[in-house]
Amino acid sequence: MSEETPVPSYYSRKTAEILHKYGPGPRIHFHVGMFEPGLSPNTTVSQRVLRNRLKASQEAALDHAARTWGVAEDPPEQLFDIGCGIGGGSIYWAQEYGCHVTAITVTAKHVPVMADLVREAGVEDLVTPVLGDIHDLREETAYDAAVAIESSGYMDRERLFSVVAKALKPGGWFGIQEHFLCRPEWTTFIDGYYKTRLGTLAEYIAAARAAGFELEQDEDITDRVAEFWVQSMAWTTAELDKVHRTGTESPIAADRLLESALTHGKLFRAWRDHAVETRMLLFRMEGD
Ligand SMILES: C[S@@+](CC[C@H](N)C(=O)[O-])C[C@H]1O[C@@H](n2cnc3c(N)ncnc32)[C@H](O)[C@@H]1O
Repeated sequence: MSEETPVPSYYSRKTAEILHKYGPGPRIHFHVGMFEPGLSPNTTVSQRVLRNRLKASQEAALDHAARTWGVAEDPPEQLFDIGCGIGGGSIYWAQEYGCHVTAITVTAKHVPVMADLVREAGVEDLVTPVLGDIHDLREETAYDAAVAIESSGYMDRERLFSVVAKALKPGGWFGIQEHFLCRPEWTTFIDGYYKTRLGTLAEYIAAARAAGFELEQDEDITDRVAEFWVQSMAWTTAELDKVHRTGTESPIAADRLLESALTHGKLFRAWRDHAVETRMLLFRMEGD
């Protein structure tokens, strides 16, 4: 995949926006976060509080994955972070669990940004950013585990599971956090906005089985992440307000902020109604 194709060029444009909204580093994530069940924290607070809250919810999702996927008791020594963004998760797995992380992204612009953040975090010896397209992966029996946090929605699932099955050691596991389509009429809107090609749970399970994986865990976290859209919308509205009231320049263009604020309202409703679901899945290869 070249830098001209839609996904890398979308993310190249977005890198400055992600740094601005989800920074400061070194752990910067670009995925939805988890809130306590039934908790809707007050949104009439400062933009700084909202940003810290978004970040805390993203790390809460990783903490949850670490617990349920067994990383906390048995951290994988060699971990493959697929579609790593600017490496917030990779740095998290290295700092919290001492994993050696190989982190792949198809977006060239991410790699130097991530390398700086990895240095800032002091984990250059543990985290290796790699530029590449997962569909072309040729590695064999290299990793104890792999994770794909909101990146598998960009990929051809048959190819993804088949290359990851080969790259894992026997008994290795593959943890996925992803959005799944439940009501097809939402496909065009969501895929259009995020440039994704989201699938259904059934499609994932079939592709995983064909590659030799067994589904070990399937957790629906939709109700715990829906709140993320409300908090994120509040941050965006505060950014728009700041631009209009004070003339402050934002790295995010005003029309994009406006589109984002409107879209977030729709995303919240889609999640609340389970038209789209976010799930954490754990697949395992047969083995020792
Ligand atoms: C929503 S971001 C998730 C980032 C990261 N996992 C995180 O949690 O912050 C999706 C990522 O998937 C990457 N990606 C999309 N298609 C890919 C492909 N074919 N091969 C490798 N990475 C890909 C993008 O470059 C981007 O970094």
